[in-house]
Amino acid sequence: MKHIFIVLLSIVFVATSCQSEKKEEKEKIVIGGKKKTVSPEFELGEKLFKGKGNCYSCHRMNKKSVGPSVADIMKIYKEQNGDVVGFLRQKKDPIVDPENYAVMKTNFARLQKFTDEELQAIAFYMNEVSSK
Ligand code: HEC
Repeated sequence: MKHIFIVLLSIVFVATSCQSEKKEEKEKIVIGGKKKTVSPEFELGEKLFKGKGNCYSCHRMNKKSVGPSVADIMKIYKEQNGDVVGFLRQKKDPIVDPENYAVMKTNFARLQKFTDEELQAIAFYMNEVSSK
């Protein structure tokens, strides 16, 4: 009887420790070789960037496609203290590739329907995935 109890206890212990490991994995992702905690804001930003925002169809993380890579954009934004949300709200001029601004401009009508919180989440996501 005592043995069964101990066996049961260890099963419960193993089961709960497995669970907490899984939870931790979900909260951390690897960006630029570093583990980072995924916050709700990051998750929202990623969802919008790749989904409703459609940003990913023109912006890859590390290589240029139709638009500059997120890494290139954020490098310049960090150097020049740029304001992603301000740019997306058309309050700030382009500083990365002004010659191709017309292509990026096609998004602004759609982005007007995004809340400030959503645009901030997109900016947060872009900043997180490009910071090493
Ligand atoms: C149809 C293609 C296309 C889509 C979709 C697109 N972009 Fe762009 N984006 C571009 C191009 C081209 C540029 C380079 C021109 C420029 O710098 O304005 C650019 C530039 C940018 C810049 C740098 C602006 C600067 O200061 O020069 C940011 C920030 C940006 N995009 C964010 C986004 C976000 C966020 C989304 C999704 C909501 C998005 N883009 C969707 C094509 C696109």
